[in-house]
Amino acid sequence: MKKKIVVLTGAGVSAESGFATFRDTGGLWEQYDVNDVASIEGWYRNRKLVLDFYNQRRAQLKDAQPNAAHLAIAGLEKEYDVDVITQNVDNLHERAGSTRVLHLHGELSKVRPENGIYDRTASEAEVIDVGYGEVHVGDLAPNGSQLRPHIVFFGEAVPNIEKAINLVEKADILLIVGTSLQVYPAAGLYRYASINTPIYVIDPKPVPISDGRVTMIQDVATKGMEKFLEMLANK
Ligand code: OAD
Repeated sequence: MKKKIVVLTGAGVSAESGFATFRDTGGLWEQYDVNDVASIEGWYRNRKLVLDFYNQRRAQLKDAQPNAAHLAIAGLEKEYDVDVITQNVDNLHERAGSTRVLHLHGELSKVRPENGIYDRTASEAEVIDVGYGEVHVGDLAPNGSQLRPHIVFFGEAVPNIEKAINLVEKADILLIVGTSLQVYPAAGLYRYASINTPIYVIDPKPVPISDGRVTMIQDVATKGMEKFLEMLANK
């Protein structure tokens, strides 16, 4: 049976595809107030501002390409049973060829009704794929309510967290790439890995994770993945 690698990714894995991260110098949360564009209160205060923010992100995604780190993660599937858990709302893992990608914080290319059943049941039935298109105030779902981004705003529950915990519990190897581990519950996921599961962390900056199982690979995602693959080969 193939060994199971669970990969937890954050904004850093997409940085070399030209996407600003959130909390680095020059990051998105320096240019925008997270409370305005990524919180549930912000949504009810000014829907236009929030829709415009995600319209811009969608347009940027259209022109972006997966980088060598996304491709290397997809390539792990040749020899391993791989699940990717991503905090990213882009689709670069899928476009690189990863076949099992669990999005913890939603997906940029999707929208759903503001007053729908999703928030109570997490049922994907009402979720609509808009690709890279724009969504505006007045664009309505079939149930007659305003369309909103299919994004987990701050102040909302994370519907896929249970699925993510189940995956991490089964991991033979846990690989964490490009996340500052500041945002919960995603930041606490590694704690569900078994006591014998080695944890590799790829990030150019030190990440706040003190755990005897951790091997730090202090580098950018593309170079860090090369080093990780060498370590796997030499095991
Ligand atoms: P952050 O911006 O908090 O952290 C990005 C991490 O990527 C940092 O640790 C950087 O050091 C690292 N990094 C920067 N460049 C890199 C590179 N080239 N290669 C590898 N790593 C690099 O982003 P996240 O941890 O993903 O949520 O943030 C978590 C959540 O906060 C996001 O999903 C988003 C945000 O608010 C929502 O919007 C719901």
